[in-house]
Amino acid sequence: MKRIVLFPALLFLVSSAIVIAQGGAQGVRSDTLPPGKNPHLGNKESVRNGMTLYRWRCGECHALDATGYRGPDLTAVLPGMPDERLFQVVRQGVPGTEMPASNSPDDELLQLMAYLRNLSTVAPPDTPIGNVEHGKQLFAANCTSCHRVAGKGGRLGPDLTRVGAARSRTALVREIRTPSDWVPPGYETVTVVTKDGQKIRGAKKSEDVFSVQVMDMRERLQGYIKSNVQEVIYDKASLMPAYPAQRLSDSDLNDLIGYLTTLRGADVTVQ
Ligand code: HEC
Ligand code: HEC
Repeated sequence: MKRIVLFPALLFLVSSAIVIAQGGAQGVRSDTLPPGKNPHLGNKESVRNGMTLYRWRCGECHALDATGYRGPDLTAVLPGMPDERLFQVVRQGVPGTEMPASNSPDDELLQLMAYLRNLSTVAPPDTPIGNVEHGKQLFAANCTSCHRVAGKGGRLGPDLTRVGAARSRTALVREIRTPSDWVPPGYETVTVVTKDGQKIRGAKKSEDVFSVQVMDMRERLQGYIKSNVQEVIYDKASLMPAYPAQRLSDSDLNDLIGYLTTLRGADVTVQ
């Protein structure tokens, strides 16, 4: 009986020791700081720590040089973003997008920010590069059958209402030229072969051991019990056709991307 009473007390002691240790390691006392300023800014060691944290937690999506990949180009975003806002975005993420929230100590986030502020940045271009109007026409002619923008268009591919804020140019070029390089969950290609030999190709919406749900090319959502079908074929190739240079010239691609970068949807950030 005594042990059971002792245990929580011990736990409390250990956890308060950890809190004290962390407080010490942070080395920054917020009550002695000038208000609203990152104490790590320009500090070499902090910048180096920040770089390690960045590579570990952000590089995968924003690229090691921060020019963006699955996430936007931070070198273009940072000049227009005050520290308060940057801190808020990194702490809370962007709800409803792939940008994750973080529960790291404030001090780590501040070191990370010191690293980001130390990167060379470019001012965001005033006007998107490429002929946006022409890009919009190309999009309407080639892409709306599968992609929705602001509620209009097909559902076979992802909604692109916010793609200009969510993806870097590099990611957009790669997606259009070689869509099979990366296929997000919910859009993987499958073909279900029924027992009578019928083939249904589409995007795999979900799957478990016993069943698979597919959106076919005509956007009909169908569920299949695996034991009732002949075969489920998984395909690495995207449902999206590739647009190589023969099909879409560099100049047309540039216009198309010019248009896509204007698609910034509603700001979903909780203020
Ligand atoms: C899993 C991928 C992923 C990871 C990891 C990630 N981000 Fe992001 N980030 C995104 C995406 C996608 C967006 C765009 C969200 C949107 O607005 O649609 C974004 C947006 C941002 C923005 C806002 C840009 C703007 O224009 O408002 C900042 C700043 C940012 N990320 C910094 C970071 C930092 C710093 C880290 C590491 C702590 C990080 N991100 C980790 C994917 C990621
Ligand atoms: C036959 C349907 C189809 C057509 C036509 C199509 N797409 Fe796609 N698209 C998809 C599917 C499915 C995906 C998801 C799988 C993938 O990433 O390859 C996708 C993914 C994308 C993505 C990545 C979205 C993200 O969240 O990162 C972009 C950007 C894109 N398409 C742009 C275009 C553009 C621009 C065109 C026209 C030139 C186009 N698509 C034509 C089906 C299509």
